[in-house]
Amino acid sequence: MKHVHLKILFLCSEAVPFAKTGGLGDVGGSLPLHLAKLGQDVRLILPLYRVTKEQGLSLVLLAENIGVPLGYEELPANILKIKSKSDFAVYFVQREDLYERPNLYANEQGDYYDNLERFTFYSHAALRIAQFVGFKPDIIHCHDWQTGLVPALVRGAYAKNPTFGTVSLVFTIHNIGYQGIFPKEKLYITGLSEKEFFHPEGLEYWDKISLLKSGIVYSDAVTTVSPRYAREIQSPEYGMGMEGILRKRKERVYGILNGVDYDSWDPSKDRYLPATYCAEDLAGKGRCKEALVLELGLLRSMVERPLLGVVSRLDAQKGLDLILKVIEPILEQNVGLVILGSGSKQIKDKITEVMPRHAGRMAFKYAFDEPLAHRIIAGADMLLVPSRYEPCGLTQMYALKYGTVPLVHATGGLDDTVVEFDPSKVEGNGFKFSPFAHGAFLDAIRKALHFFSNRELWRAIMLNGMQADFSWARSAKQYLDLYRSVVDRFPGRKIQ
Ligand code: ADP
Ligand code: GLC
Repeated sequence: MKHVHLKILFLCSEAVPFAKTGGLGDVGGSLPLHLAKLGQDVRLILPLYRVTKEQGLSLVLLAENIGVPLGYEELPANILKIKSKSDFAVYFVQREDLYERPNLYANEQGDYYDNLERFTFYSHAALRIAQFVGFKPDIIHCHDWQTGLVPALVRGAYAKNPTFGTVSLVFTIHNIGYQGIFPKEKLYITGLSEKEFFHPEGLEYWDKISLLKSGIVYSDAVTTVSPRYAREIQSPEYGMGMEGILRKRKERVYGILNGVDYDSWDPSKDRYLPATYCAEDLAGKGRCKEALVLELGLLRSMVERPLLGVVSRLDAQKGLDLILKVIEPILEQNVGLVILGSGSKQIKDKITEVMPRHAGRMAFKYAFDEPLAHRIIAGADMLLVPSRYEPCGLTQMYALKYGTVPLVHATGGLDDTVVEFDPSKVEGNGFKFSPFAHGAFLDAIRKALHFFSNRELWRAIMLNGMQADFSWARSAKQYLDLYRSVVDRFPGRKIQ
């Protein structure tokens, strides 16, 4: 195929700056931008969530009350578009009863009861929008279970539709732990025929619907967000039941590491920091640490002590249980610990419980707080990421850039991005532990603390990390190569 530009319909349920619950939102905002910078025609479609609406964006109403299929009926939705000129077009699906809620997917009691309806509606609406605006994509790139229905729809109800007749489908798994499982009785909501789709080779999963599986089996290529995780999810230990179908398609499973948006995550120009800094002049990092110690009410003396940071969703995946197990022996050594997290109330309660024993040395903020995330990643000496599994992980990559040494479980993208420090060669940018056990974690922290006391070596580790370059340009290029190879593989689907 000649390298003409591709038309890419990018479907992701979150994207910065419009909506974000975690790394998916970072990728949803950055990847389309960098594909557009590579000259591609990219269109991103999102639900108009309450958080997005409250941003007061300047939006144009493209269409009012277009009919979108949901179950046996069609419900009206509005289509809006960002007014300002930008590198790529962003459209929103507006339907107040489905999307204008306090959160994106769940409330304190758990997932919204109608998530199948909400993301089925979004999937159909996205395909309707492409038709409405006359965008005939070469590639539809879907992300996670929220968009997993789209490949099935494109191969089913929309197969004969001229807008999608030649399209190729790429599906990215950001986290195999979220599988979009719903009771089979709800299949009618999707509009898919039971005979054609509800079977073991289709989206049936232990007699239930799995939208993640739908994305995997009906796409031309499946990617995930690091090379190691691409291998891991083909094993029973990490595949969470999907390993069989992934192994079966192993020639079409790819691992492409996420990038970092260095416009937002760069200590030399980070607007959230009390002081900026760079590899050549690290003075500002000290000021960030001092300000963080004061802001979070730690003992002033902690400025001179090693400060460990955690910025994480509070979820079993993230291994906070391991942190709780090492708190006593670590903080006893007069080490500081600051945790920023949101999510599980149970994990929140467990962290809160140990707080009084470590007054002045430990701080915990239960919130989703973007500016504080930046201040911790800049102000801490080390960032702990003891995830049970981690498809890619972004915070360790941010930490590297900020001269904050990552200490991670050697799994998934954490293992691909952090290089164990080797004092004999003064190479490496962080510390890793394995197996996932508190003993191994504790040993790694002790080892890191040992090096911390040697100012010169520590500085070398920091500088090694600050040189790391995980810019999006490289990852976006890899996606583009993949899109092209997928399009080439299906010559019947000629680009017009
Ligand atoms: P995941 O997507 O599994 O949560 P990642 O490391 O890929 O993990 O991405 C997490 C993203 O969310 C990062 O941008 C991180 O800074 C941000 N983040 C996580 N928890 C919080 C929080 N409590 N407040 C602000 N930002 C957070
Ligand atoms: C998921 C993963 C995380 C990854 C992010 C973006 O939330 O848990 O590891 O970095 O998606 O791909």
